[in-house]
Amino acid sequence: MAVFFFALLYNVFARKIDVPTCIPYQASFQQSLVKQVDNTHYEVYVIAKMWAFDPAEITIPVGSTVDFYLSSADVVHGFNIERKGVNLMAVPGAVNKVTVKFTDYGTYRIVCHEYCGAGHHNMMAQVLVTYLKR
Ligand code: CUA
Repeated sequence: MAVFFFALLYNVFARKIDVPTCIPYQASFQQSLVKQVDNTHYEVYVIAKMWAFDPAEITIPVGSTVDFYLSSADVVHGFNIERKGVNLMAVPGAVNKVTVKFTDYGTYRIVCHEYCGAGHHNMMAQVLVTYLKR
């Protein structure tokens, strides 16, 4: 246990890796949304469903910080953002949150890494991090 807590605190404070938060049930949402809070801060409300993510593509300028709020419309799905160490579960009736800073431009694939049925292997989305300020 001591090693576990040490590893957790080390990652949060020394490596600045955000630990996912679980939001209470009543804060659940029904629709996907990409909301620009300011020039470098976005909130993205993602709904996972068989077998896609909504929204399927998110375009943001490089240097942006994104708060992802994640829920599911049907069964449990996974939410893994490549090269970002994000590993969340999309749970029906619940919302999970993670904050990610995109400091390098490029395309970051999001894949479902929790088996969710026949179309599981096709379930993906992407974050496009561009040079352009919008
Ligand atoms: Cu959704 Cu696997």
